Amino acid sequence: MNEHMPTAAKATPTLPDAQTVTSVTHYTDRLFAFRCTRPRSLRFRSGEFVMIGLMGENGKPLLRAYSIASPSWDDELEFYSIKVPDGPLPSRLQHIRPGEQIILRPKPVGTLVLDALLPGKRLWMLATGTGIAPFAALLRDPETWEKFEQVIVMHTCRETEELTYGRDLITALPEDPLIGELVEGKLHYYPTTTRAPTPQMGRITDNIATGKVFADLGIPPLDPATDRAMVCGSLAFNLDVKAILEGAGLREGANSEPAEYVVEKAFVG
Ligand code: A2P
Repeated sequence: MNEHMPTAAKATPTLPDAQTVTSVTHYTDRLFAFRCTRPRSLRFRSGEFVMIGLMGENGKPLLRAYSIASPSWDDELEFYSIKVPDGPLPSRLQHIRPGEQIILRPKPVGTLVLDALLPGKRLWMLATGTGIAPFAALLRDPETWEKFEQVIVMHTCRETEELTYGRDLITALPEDPLIGELVEGKLHYYPTTTRAPTPQMGRITDNIATGKVFADLGIPPLDPATDRAMVCGSLAFNLDVKAILEGAGLREGANSEPAEYVVEKAFVG
């Protein structure tokens, strides 16, 4: 269900920091993505997040952090969200339609950026649920493919349909006019489910700890000399993955001090 905005419906922003929604795609009854106009002045690095929101009924903006899912070269911005969360914004945002406005605070920040990683051979992208959003940006950024010989995307959700957004994006990469050639032979996609019975099941933590993912892909175990990782999921997931990465000798990096891995919380609540 992809609702494109009819040209005539293009609204002139009236709210401060307002952007106009251009398309909305519903993936499941829990997940949707939308695109909106991008302020010309907005510069960001793929993997960063911004505050977006709607005007609350009390006249105050209802804002929360969302990873930008579109790459830094894109004319528009894309966001991927859950619908029924513990926070009030996504439950309202899910009803947004093309032509309507959202608020966007144009101050991108975040640690899930290539600048916070030392050069390496392999880049592991480890995501659960909507944690795939920042990787949707990074996977469409030529810099990712220029910097690494191999990129491994592990994405885990409870149900198969919850993988669709990431799967569609990743399977389209080889045909992408900008990065299709760069991706060739470098991409390993390793989606798994934990509740729906599928041929590939299991938590990312288990598939790394047991060595299953390395055996399946024919890749050597994590090594701080060659491997870099970016992690984005729930708090519990991030902590468990951190422990595994630290156990393998990788150290957490930051913009000011690049190292072997970086972590960002998926902003889903
Ligand atoms: P599981 O089904 O075994 O809990 P959620 O929908 O709760 O945000 O979870 C998204 C995915 O992340 C699920 O597949 C879930 O697996 C997995 N997951 C949740 N917590 C962890 C964790 N601490 N370590 C690894 N995987 C996790």
